[in-house]
Amino acid sequence: MELNSDIQPVLKGGFRCNLCEIHVPNKASLDDHLKGRRHQKLSSVRATRKAQAESSLFVTGFARETSQLQLVDHFQQFGPVAEVIMDKDKGVYAIVEFSETEGMQSAFSHPQHTLEGQKLCVKPREKKEFRYIPKKKQYPRNLHLSVEHLSRELCQAASVNEQMQRVVECFQLSESEKKVRNLLVELLQGVFTEFFPECCVQPFGSSVNTFDIHSCDLDLFLDLENTKSFQARAKGSSDQAEECQSEDIQSEDSILSDIDLSTASPAEVLDLVAVVLRKCVPGVHKVQVLSSARLPVVKFSHRELDLQGDITINNRLAVRNTRFLQLCSKLDARLHPLVYSIRYWAKQKELAGNPFGGGPLLNNYALTLLIIFFLQNQDPPVLLSVNQLKEMACEEEDCVIEGWDCTFPSQPISVPPSKNTEDLCALLAGFFSFYGQFDFAGSVISLREGQALSITGFLNKIEEDEVMERRKKAGDRGLKTIRLGPVNVLDPFELCHNVAGNLNERTQKCFRRECEEAAKYCRSLQYQRKSTKGKVWGLVRLFAPLDGRARGLTGGTERELSISIPFKAAMLPDLVCSQLRLAGGHFRQLWFEKVCHAVVRVFQDVLKCSVAPSDGPVKDMMRREETEHGAVTDTNAAAHVGTDNEDVKQDYIIDCTLPARENGKNVQEANNNCASDTCPSTSSKECSPRDSVHVGLKRLLSCGDDTLGSPPSKRQMLDSGSKHPSALWHCLLWHRVWVGRRKVRHNLLKNLREASKPEGGSIELETQVTACIAQEHEEAQKLLEFTLEAEVLGCTEDTQTVLKFTPGEDHAGLFQDFFHFLESFLPKMTVKLLEKLE
Ligand code: UTP
Repeated sequence: MELNSDIQPVLKGGFRCNLCEIHVPNKASLDDHLKGRRHQKLSSVRATRKAQAESSLFVTGFARETSQLQLVDHFQQFGPVAEVIMDKDKGVYAIVEFSETEGMQSAFSHPQHTLEGQKLCVKPREKKEFRYIPKKKQYPRNLHLSVEHLSRELCQAASVNEQMQRVVECFQLSESEKKVRNLLVELLQGVFTEFFPECCVQPFGSSVNTFDIHSCDLDLFLDLENTKSFQARAKGSSDQAEECQSEDIQSEDSILSDIDLSTASPAEVLDLVAVVLRKCVPGVHKVQVLSSARLPVVKFSHRELDLQGDITINNRLAVRNTRFLQLCSKLDARLHPLVYSIRYWAKQKELAGNPFGGGPLLNNYALTLLIIFFLQNQDPPVLLSVNQLKEMACEEEDCVIEGWDCTFPSQPISVPPSKNTEDLCALLAGFFSFYGQFDFAGSVISLREGQALSITGFLNKIEEDEVMERRKKAGDRGLKTIRLGPVNVLDPFELCHNVAGNLNERTQKCFRRECEEAAKYCRSLQYQRKSTKGKVWGLVRLFAPLDGRARGLTGGTERELSISIPFKAAMLPDLVCSQLRLAGGHFRQLWFEKVCHAVVRVFQDVLKCSVAPSDGPVKDMMRREETEHGAVTDTNAAAHVGTDNEDVKQDYIIDCTLPARENGKNVQEANNNCASDTCPSTSSKECSPRDSVHVGLKRLLSCGDDTLGSPPSKRQMLDSGSKHPSALWHCLLWHRVWVGRRKVRHNLLKNLREASKPEGGSIELETQVTACIAQEHEEAQKLLEFTLEAEVLGCTEDTQTVLKFTPGEDHAGLFQDFFHFLESFLPKMTVKLLEKLE
């Protein structure tokens, strides 16, 4: 059989077409291929290229400013010129293509070409072998790469390990994208130096921490330390001898004279930065100063480069933690694909990636720290704890920023390689099982120590920590009080910053649930082995977007109506804090009791709701008596705070009253509607909230020292067998307390004379606001009824009281609005009340 030169027989069988770079199994398919469109097209392209090469000249030696037209004019004396291609950037060479080979030959045989006085060098064009280069795959410039597209790409891989590497390839910035970012940084450095002499623009975050993706923003730290010194020097010298001002100092007059960097607030400096950005940096638009953010920031966009940027000052720690992430990435190559894969998974499951950095989802930094923590906790560890790394640093690498020890080796060579040999596939599965079972509620994740600390242990530790105490006194960034929440991930350096402090209970639950699901899937063969039948396998199913059912729990229409009150030691009065500390393992119950007390007060006193105990798991425990109003109720009591454990159901009881306003109709309605036989009648007297907690208390739990005095045996019972303490109420809402609230508040404040303005605002003022709203509607009617269930979540210790709402009939569709209002109002008011606890 005579073979075309492009075709080669293959030893294993079949043929290879070198032109099209494909393998065909037999002669019949080879014939089809040779006649096929692809082969025909490539053959014809190759023939055209060959002809073009044979009729082209490679020309150099012309002046830099020479145009294409001048070259065409010069060469067409030898024959028609089809095209002139110039190396525009360098202006060094041109390819002159003639329509016919004769033209080229005639020009080539011409002894000397001269153009505008320059001697040209003319050679035949180099003949390159034609090779088909498949078009490089272009991925969309963001994380929203279509799932189908990514799935196709991943299914072609041979193993999960390879799939994870492909995820990196799909998302990471290309070299040219990185170059563009660097150029923008250089441009900004140049411009800012004009206005803030000796300043330094330093990128941090995803652009440089090795976990970049196409759409990631450009985080920049504008370091003005040297500018401050410059300004001080300039001031000193101008005071001494105005006439001797240097040029630099004169330039300082232009903008730095508007501000004293040593005393200006970050917001003032950022305002100035924003002006420079708006007026002096080409392509920059949408400049916005966010001065109330945790770290004030100027946001901007670049039109042509299609990227967003953030500029912060006072953010040296972020530059340092970026170096830490870079180091981790270099220490173990498995971190990189793990981070890309888990970030994408978390994005698909709607657990991470707040577009504007707010809201209750994980940010990328927090997620990356969770991954590093997981790797620190493998046996043997893949990565070392920050404390261990610190030991490996040499003296010159000592680094303290804002009082925080940020020492770690600058080079990976100082750290011995990990003995852990698990592959990516196993580590990814391990990540999911690790966090699927993690006790988030009772733990503080510390990368510094490489282990999870118990919340009480952690609180005791920070209390004892002298350094922290000193920082607290100094009032610097050191002890902003740590914000503990449903997920606690300590920054590895700024040890009072919970990088997951923005998460709510719902996100924590979803994160755990999705991890559990993923761990289950990772145990299946479908995850571990490539499908031979073309089915989806490996990462593809893991990356499936959140389905509708699961979305219901994370924020869709069927979302769970719950509000969390996080445990925050810092906002409690000192006395309560020490009570909690003394309560040891019981601090959760004690704290829960205080929260329930505050929540009932908000509904009852501030919002004028009727709150009554409801049929709950603890119903049988309640001793009931006829009240003077004829309703059946617990002895002066209403809601029951207890545990699900049969042995310890006695706990404590909160009294509830109907609306403070005396309204027979309301009372009757409430009695009819509140949890049937357990509904309390209204108490006509104003019931002090403190009374309402203590009256009729039969408790293991109570406010104040009582708890501490409870018998140890019962305490043990609570500890050993108790589930989550819980309470259940049935509530009636009488007024549209959420409508026009702001206006009423505004008017109230306007009309009140300074002296009679409610103390400290909130509780008293909000109570008055509700009273005004109530007054406007003389005939109060039951608007809504709902049950409210409170429980503390967690297995060992807990930090969250979760309030779950179940609306009753709601024909007018009011509950969503009311709940929306409660989502911000209730935690705020509860916190206010907790702050005032005695
Ligand atoms: P991001 O969470 O934005 O992470 O924090 P990222 O890796 O840049 O991801 P993109 O930009 O969302 O794709 C950016 C940087 O801000 C600092 C860290 O240096 C982080 O790399 N940061 C963030 C903190 O120091 N503390 C935080 O709580 C959050």
